[in-house]
Amino acid sequence: MPAQPMMDLNDGRSMPQLGLGTWRAAAGEAAAIVRAAIAAGYRLIDTASMYGNEPGVGEGVRGSGVAREELFVTTKLASAAHGHDAALKAFDESAKRLGLERVDLYLIHWPAPRQGLYLEAWKALVRLQAEGRVTSIGVSNFTAEHLRRVIGETGVTPAVNQVELHPRFQQRELRELHGELGIVTESWSPLGQGGLLADPTVKRIAAKHGKTPAQTILRWHLDCGLVAIPKSSNSGRIAENFDVFDFYLDGEDMAAMAGLDDPRGRIGPHPDTFG
Ligand code: A2P
Repeated sequence: MPAQPMMDLNDGRSMPQLGLGTWRAAAGEAAAIVRAAIAAGYRLIDTASMYGNEPGVGEGVRGSGVAREELFVTTKLASAAHGHDAALKAFDESAKRLGLERVDLYLIHWPAPRQGLYLEAWKALVRLQAEGRVTSIGVSNFTAEHLRRVIGETGVTPAVNQVELHPRFQQRELRELHGELGIVTESWSPLGQGGLLADPTVKRIAAKHGKTPAQTILRWHLDCGLVAIPKSSNSGRIAENFDVFDFYLDGEDMAAMAGLDDPRGRIGPHPDTFG
């Protein structure tokens, strides 16, 4: 198996660039999916307390036969637990459901700005990192405004911002800001929830490289310097999505992919109004 690429984080750690997403993986199937992914070579597994599948994900991690220190497990703090003490308690509950002492990356799932508590939540994550319960800390679905606020108030820059990102919604402005701030961009729904697989440009580039549309899109994420976490519940597609380390997109491919960006390409909710 070719070595998988890693991304350096601003706290001196690193994380795998390609992982398994588990949003909409049912609680009952999560353990098997995670085991299949780890057997296929994945080392990054992403879940969230809101997904309701942490027990299955933890079971898959613990039963994978791969040493815990070789795996990188991410989970996320739900918006309902944004208070400082509520966040500390929510982390304990997530760790317990996962059956893990330590989580590699803990993210604030949504900023929920109308609630006005994400700064309190961020302070709790800073404390969890200082206590060693969480190795790296970051955020998800944060806009430039939310990022500037937490950094300005605490002096601690999130290691990662996980946002909706796929060829139809490329988030160029936010990625540029992340570059300036030293934040790794992680793409959720990297395949556009499957909706991009029939795109003619993607299909043409895939045929040129003898790869599938899903592999072509995931290669685009890697070649853009993004972390990507495609979700699949099918062991064949899980393996397919990890077989992307033997080719690169060239300048012409990248230019064609750039042309797929669409200001109306967002699929999920807007971070300013969700939660
Ligand atoms: P399934 O779980 O049945 O494989 P995203 O990660 O962008 O949210 O996309 C996830 C969706 O894309 C799921 O519906 C998943 O379905 C589907 N999917 C994931 N990988 C592939 C693939 N290699 N080929 C086709 N569909 C895929």
